[in-house]
Amino acid sequence: MLDQFGRNINYLRISVTDRCNLRCVYCMPEEGTEFLPHKDILTFDEIYRVVKIAAKLGISKVRITGGEPLTRQGLPKLIHDIKTLPQIEEVCITTNGIFLEKYIDELIKSGLDSLNISLDTLQEKKYKEITRGGNLEKVIRGIKLSLDKGIKKVKLNTVIMRGKNDDEIMDFVELCEKFPIDIRFIELMPIGEGKQFKSLSNDDVKQIILKERQLSSNVVQNLLLGPATYFKTGSSKGSIGFISPMSHRFCSQCNRIRLTSEGFLKQCLHWRYGIDLKNIMRNGIKDEQLEQIIVKGIYEKPNKHGFKQPTIYEDNRNMFQIGG
Ligand code: 5AD
Ligand code: SF4
Repeated sequence: MLDQFGRNINYLRISVTDRCNLRCVYCMPEEGTEFLPHKDILTFDEIYRVVKIAAKLGISKVRITGGEPLTRQGLPKLIHDIKTLPQIEEVCITTNGIFLEKYIDELIKSGLDSLNISLDTLQEKKYKEITRGGNLEKVIRGIKLSLDKGIKKVKLNTVIMRGKNDDEIMDFVELCEKFPIDIRFIELMPIGEGKQFKSLSNDDVKQIILKERQLSSNVVQNLLLGPATYFKTGSSKGSIGFISPMSHRFCSQCNRIRLTSEGFLKQCLHWRYGIDLKNIMRNGIKDEQLEQIIVKGIYEKPNKHGFKQPTIYEDNRNMFQIGG
């Protein structure tokens, strides 16, 4: 359906948990994080109920996020149920990849269409530092398995931080030249822990690549692909994407809404307020009324984020709480 600014909202991101097995430096503090008690997290039945209505309203793509979604038991069944809804064309997941080896068969069976893997470095020691303890080998094995077993699209999400991993930009480019993997450089957003690190604009990342490669932009821009702009180098099997929320605000083309793990319909990543669907559902609402509330929520999606002019509306929590 169209929102108040005429944007066609067809993409729902669902965070199924705020828990994570890693503690990436720009996303979670090292210790002291309090997670939501289980009773405050939407059940799979509640999530399915919302998705079913959202699908009727024009949602055709669903992404499962977290925290780390694969820490939640029984996820493949939810993916299967969502994928089986007639209006849903695509179900994807964003994961840190550590548990991929364990779940890849079940995920493929569930009908999962594509995988986004968060990976900010290709160096074992640095991976341990950035993720505070993660094992890079596991992620690499998971990526290889996913490709071997025929997941249609494997994409890497890479956040470049000045002085941390900006020396690896060409290593990532080389990876997508060798393998059919898309790599997307995501600009660091100044939310929560992310405020402590220096970002690199994607224009700077592109300049670094352009010193060594030509980039051609003949990659078809599909609206369902989201806000990335994609390029290829001469010989690359995969594509190089740039997601630039800071330097090139893409809000006018934003096609997404979010369902947080505690059950808020959140119209924008950066806006604090949303609609508490969990309480509404647990108070015993009928489907028709719930649909009206979701329609209103989608319609009222704000026109843009305010990273550069923070206001009282800002959501200053970390990504794992908002739902990456
Ligand atoms: N800025 C940009 N990306 C972030 N992510 C987490 N926190 C931030 C931030 N502050 C990314 C993760 C993951 C995705 C879900 O969000 O790297 O790939
Ligand atoms: Fe869309 Fe909000 Fe993200 Fe802007 S900040 S692109 S409006 S979700």
